[in-house]
Amino acid sequence: MIRIEGLGKVAGETRILRGVNLEVAPRTVLGIIGPSGSGKTTLLRCMNGFERITEGSLEAGGVRLEAGLNEKEYQRRVKQLRRQVGMVFQHFYLFPHLSVLGNVSEAPVYVLKRPRAEVEAQARQLLEAVGLGQRAERYPESLSGGEQQRVAIVRALAMRPEVLLFDEPTSALDPRRSNELAGTLRGLVEQGQTMVIVTHSMKFLEDVADRVLYMESGEAVELGDTAQILNDPQDPRTRDFIRHAD
Ligand SMILES: Nc1ncnc2c1ncn2[C@@H]1O[C@H](COP(=O)(O)OP(=O)(O)OP(=O)(O)O)[C@@H](O)[C@H]1O
Ligand SMILES: [Mg+2]
Repeated sequence: MIRIEGLGKVAGETRILRGVNLEVAPRTVLGIIGPSGSGKTTLLRCMNGFERITEGSLEAGGVRLEAGLNEKEYQRRVKQLRRQVGMVFQHFYLFPHLSVLGNVSEAPVYVLKRPRAEVEAQARQLLEAVGLGQRAERYPESLSGGEQQRVAIVRALAMRPEVLLFDEPTSALDPRRSNELAGTLRGLVEQGQTMVIVTHSMKFLEDVADRVLYMESGEAVELGDTAQILNDPQDPRTRDFIRHAD
């Protein structure tokens, strides 16, 4: 569950986000679209504490951030937030010196202090679920780009976050891999995962998103069901963007 109210972000002289209101229901996927520079990545980074919000509030995975909190309390909550909200970066850096299993197990063992045997058993299950059961002992360099990406997703999932965030996950994938990724993500949603995905691909949105948010100039312009936003946008700004999308 994510609830964002009146969220604003000002960095120095620049206003990046203004008055963003948003709810994401559990076990659903929210897609975020909008022109370059509209604030999509910044909003995503606010959702796991990489950017400090300067107005309003944000609640995710049971942790609430408010712009007015003092720095110490804010950072304390960000720490809690990061345990509930995972992020898969556009350039997911796997550790080259660790096997697939090692990459996935590292953080749960060293950050969450969970027993290695239990973590590895869960890691193998997750790898199996994304079709990488046979790759556990391999090293990242011997995997295809799409396989490496799935390892990065499993690595984030191994922390058992309530919410997973993705920034342009298909930008380096061909249409077939993109399709596979959509299938993988929908499988995770069926198992209870909540996700937010920033993407420029309309096809990918159709395949994975339940709801879509259109952003422009740091504002949440229109939020609706995927089919409605893609086929029948109401705001003229959304309409203009969709008309020019591929
Ligand atoms: N720390 C910062 N200080 C000042 N301006 C910033 C900062 N971070 C981001 N911006 C600006 O805020 C705007 C939104 O950036 P953001 O990266 O969120 O856009 P985006 O929607 O993800 O774009 P793209 O589709 O190109 O990835 C941009 O104009 C960017 O230059
Ligand atoms: Mg971006």
